[in-house]
Amino acid sequence: MKNISLIVLILFAFNSGGCTENKTPAYLNPNETIEVRVGDLLSRMTLEEKIGQMCQYVGLEHLRKREKNQSKEELEKGDQQGFYSTLTSYDVVKHIESGKIGSFLHVTKVDEANELQKSAQKSRLKIPLLIGIDAIHGNALVEGSTVFPTQLSLSSSWDNDLLYRVAKATAKEVRAGGSHWTFSPNVEVARDARWGRCGETFGEDPYLVSQMGAAFTTGYQGNWGEDNILACAKHFVAGGEPVNGTNAAPMDASERQLREIWLPSFKEQVRVGVGSFMAAHNELNGIPCHSNNWLMNEILRDEWGFDGFVVSDWMDIERLYTEQKVAKDKKEAASLAVNAGLDMHMHGPGFFDYVLDQVKEGIISENSVNLACKRILEAKFSLGLFESILIEPKESANILFANESQELTLEAARKSIVLLKNESQILPLINKKRILVTGPNAHNQRILGDWSLLQPDENVTTVYEGMSEIFTNAQVDFIDCGENIRKPAALEIDEVVSRAGDYDAVVVVVGSNSLRYETKEKTCGENIDRASINFMGNQLELIQEIYKKNKQVIVVMVNGRPLSEPWVKENIPAIIEAWEPGSLGGRVVAEIIKGEVNPSGKLTMSFPYSSGQIVYTYNHKKMHFFHEYIDEPSDPLWSFGYGLSYTSFQYSNPVIENENIAPEDSIRVSVKVQNTGSVAGDEIVQLYIRDNFASVTRPVKELKAYKRISLKPGQSQNVSFSVPYSSLGFYNQDMDFVVEPGGFTIMTGSSSRDTDLQSVELTVN
Ligand code: BGC
Repeated sequence: MKNISLIVLILFAFNSGGCTENKTPAYLNPNETIEVRVGDLLSRMTLEEKIGQMCQYVGLEHLRKREKNQSKEELEKGDQQGFYSTLTSYDVVKHIESGKIGSFLHVTKVDEANELQKSAQKSRLKIPLLIGIDAIHGNALVEGSTVFPTQLSLSSSWDNDLLYRVAKATAKEVRAGGSHWTFSPNVEVARDARWGRCGETFGEDPYLVSQMGAAFTTGYQGNWGEDNILACAKHFVAGGEPVNGTNAAPMDASERQLREIWLPSFKEQVRVGVGSFMAAHNELNGIPCHSNNWLMNEILRDEWGFDGFVVSDWMDIERLYTEQKVAKDKKEAASLAVNAGLDMHMHGPGFFDYVLDQVKEGIISENSVNLACKRILEAKFSLGLFESILIEPKESANILFANESQELTLEAARKSIVLLKNESQILPLINKKRILVTGPNAHNQRILGDWSLLQPDENVTTVYEGMSEIFTNAQVDFIDCGENIRKPAALEIDEVVSRAGDYDAVVVVVGSNSLRYETKEKTCGENIDRASINFMGNQLELIQEIYKKNKQVIVVMVNGRPLSEPWVKENIPAIIEAWEPGSLGGRVVAEIIKGEVNPSGKLTMSFPYSSGQIVYTYNHKKMHFFHEYIDEPSDPLWSFGYGLSYTSFQYSNPVIENENIAPEDSIRVSVKVQNTGSVAGDEIVQLYIRDNFASVTRPVKELKAYKRISLKPGQSQNVSFSVPYSSLGFYNQDMDFVVEPGGFTIMTGSSSRDTDLQSVELTVN
């Protein structure tokens, strides 16, 4: 979307006949440019209609369901349910018809999307509605869609192209479902494993998150064709290290930390042209992100040149008054937000009147409304909504869960699952006649992760089903020990334990539960934060008791954020981090256990040894462990970048190919990697840099490049990296971004652990 001067546009539209009523208005003419169309439309709109574009509501079906199932008192209480105590679904339709609503969210049925758009067609200017949904790893809130592995899972593939293709496939299914906008990618940097939303992110490293976020946004938005959707970079900013690990808790961060850790992934979103931003629930240095002029106006728009629109997060404008207490009422909250740069309100009544009144009172300028409306309209035109808005249900059904999407979700899971331990080569399981599969996550939809609703069983392959499908020559039994891991001793382990010794191997599937519809049993996901990061309930006891009876135990973790159980690492011979691997993920777990797929994923979050070690990230400062803990190891349980394969790789020392590097150069580094094992495999080659001496303290290492390669047994490859000179830079004491002359250590290898890296020195003069 182009940054255009509003005044020029309006004048142009006027002169070009935009206000002539007896011919097709310019804004309805697809042959006109977006600039002309937006200008023409704006020139026809009343103040009320412009404010209407800034207002979003939840889908009617949510309201209707609540209206049917809840008592009046319950309805009045719950903003979480999307119910509006002052409006019925009928009233909402009337609001659409009078041009007071510009957007909806969480419309999960094609018929409903069509119904809404037909109401919008009855409004004076017939402006289509922009419908948004949290399609963050596939359009998983919609029944029958392809569910891809969650973001944290996908990031473990370290494969930007894969992520691009996943986003593109997601976009197609979102459009087929009648929505046009996804609240994704989440480009927060996740630095606290207690936080329930780690699974929605690409992990702990700012560079990796930037790269992957860019791949997602490019895949979603493409070239704005009819299979493309609007992306939304969220949550702006710094919510990934809440003070106590709980979602939306305050965040204090220095400007240096902001510019090095929290802001780069968002800046990269602007660079690749993301169309919208969402503000974060949290406050930043005492100022709520939703009323933060510095963030939204100064950094995002003035410094970075963002020309899309910013949407609020769920009820957060209201929370400026109800929780954060920076506004004395909801009306003041609305003006604080709009004046700080927010363009659209998520969601519900109130906001419209507050903005209208405050424009009239001179508290909000009419220009702010014009700008917000213009940005939102630009998105609608870019997406082609004025040309084609209704969805043909049959066509839609053919697009969802199509064969190529199933192949893609399989590929994504195959590249993302991480093998953490494989002692004595217990895996792959060969020549086993009887295999027991058990555990709370063995045979249900928890492989789908958060932001998924129940999917048709025939579209989902659970781990147990996958094991039965893949191990055709073995007897695969499942013993149900219960699923509720939230209660301390809820798993019924007696039967499993008594029979565990009868099998050649036992696959125990444990982890967390991110399914949002299992409200009372969830242990992970949005607003489900924990004080500890061990296995909840009696999952550890289940594993320990089985292990007493049978040493051939494979622990498979299905979880949405790091979970650490040192006993399991020490004792269990094989551990697989499956993350939340999507619709067909259970099949892939089985393929890996059987050796049909060679695991290749690597962790993108460190697993702290325990919650006491938090915040632990691989890119810490040297003094972070000048003194070590006296009661626990100071190393993490599993390191960033770590993951095993069924083959082995040997690395040469890295070589710098160009000496005397100048600012306009890139540093060319190469390293030879050889597959020294007996099976083909993928390796993720990582490059880190440390500034040896600098005027401000620098991290012990920082990821600056990575590449995924495939090698046959015996094959070797020279992997070349071209690292921009700016990768050596940082913010000095004056907060200028500089590259200081001196020595740098360039490290390449298979993980962030020192023992997995080899290095070469670079001198910059
Ligand atoms: C979340 C957002 C999400 C929004 C709409 C909020 O609670 O923080 O990430 O996009 O709800 O579902």
